[in-house]
Amino acid sequence: MLKIHHDPDRADAYKAMQPFRFDEQLRCICVFDKDLIAEIFRSDRFKVIAFADHYRQIADRTTINFDASIAALHHVPLANEGDHHRHLRGQVASVIGADSRGKLRAIEDFIAALASETFTAGREVDLVHDVAMPVFDRLFSLWFGLAQSELVEHMNVSQVFDMTMSLNRRKGVNEQVAAMTCAFAGQQARLPTTPEIAVAMNILGNDALIGSIALSLWHTLSRNPGKRLDEIVYPDDLPSTGVPFIERVATEDLEIGGLVVGKGQRVRLMIDATAYHVSEDEADLLFGRGRHLCLGKPATLAIWRSLIKALAANARRFTIGAIRMRTGDYAFSFPEYARVSIHD
Ligand code: HEM
Repeated sequence: MLKIHHDPDRADAYKAMQPFRFDEQLRCICVFDKDLIAEIFRSDRFKVIAFADHYRQIADRTTINFDASIAALHHVPLANEGDHHRHLRGQVASVIGADSRGKLRAIEDFIAALASETFTAGREVDLVHDVAMPVFDRLFSLWFGLAQSELVEHMNVSQVFDMTMSLNRRKGVNEQVAAMTCAFAGQQARLPTTPEIAVAMNILGNDALIGSIALSLWHTLSRNPGKRLDEIVYPDDLPSTGVPFIERVATEDLEIGGLVVGKGQRVRLMIDATAYHVSEDEADLLFGRGRHLCLGKPATLAIWRSLIKALAANARRFTIGAIRMRTGDYAFSFPEYARVSIHD
């Protein structure tokens, strides 16, 4: 179950485990049923994982310094509840909401130009490095009013959410979080927000956006071999996700949709099992629901729709090349590369 979201044949496994199953290795209940997942997302009787507390415990146990990760997680809305959560959510919303129409138009223009330069005959296109990453960089640069990729290289800061990775890797992620915090702090005067919120937005948006866009393009193209790009019927919403699951903890003994849960029990909501390319369902759960609903959803969907609009106007053929998922990753579905070749 640890890495089921990387298994190409997982659709059948997901079906066999409906509606939920306790996993001994994960010591949590994995939920596959879309209605139950939606109900738990909306419930006040479940809270998000207190990620900062986990890091404090690891730091106490190992005497390794995880201060940068702990400070960053204190600013991530998805790692907090109550008034503090509402305050952080408001801070992120104010960055995303500032001239959002103008910024979405700018990202659409950027994508139209990128797609026409990139999907040209004779090219091998890496959907991660040639498409998803430049789009991510452009979006965040528009939000922050500075060229993010000149300030910080692509960093794996989102992996701070991974509760399973090795200690060495966790130390590396902590160093990247520290470096990113320091880089943004150096540009504080130019930022429309605090350096901490800029880092929190990267933690939330980086692997989620790049992984989801690259995988959604990959799955759409690999299901349509032999067609021209303009012959594909593209799904309007993301068909695949870089965020395979979100976890919650029960705040009391409770029963929900036939599931009995004890206080303190962790549940893993397997949103990957509701993604279109796995279930052909249109569950609309990939961005969560309720008080923690993803604030990046409108921008991400605008990006997806601009990309498919550009591809649907391109009469070239393509062949699918190789994909490789990032190794040692237990929290995201993030391809290291995903290659397609474009022909006349
Ligand atoms: C395809 C890309 C993305 C996917 C699949 C995705 C998915 C999600 C999911 C599943 C949640 C949790 C919802 C819940 O627990 O109820 C979430 C929360 C969040 N996402 Fe995204 N996300 C994406 C991109 C982004 C981007 C680009 C940003 C920009 C910063 C972003 C910002 C947030 C924020 C701020 C929250 C937490 C909201 C809160 O706790 O109140 N996301 N996202």
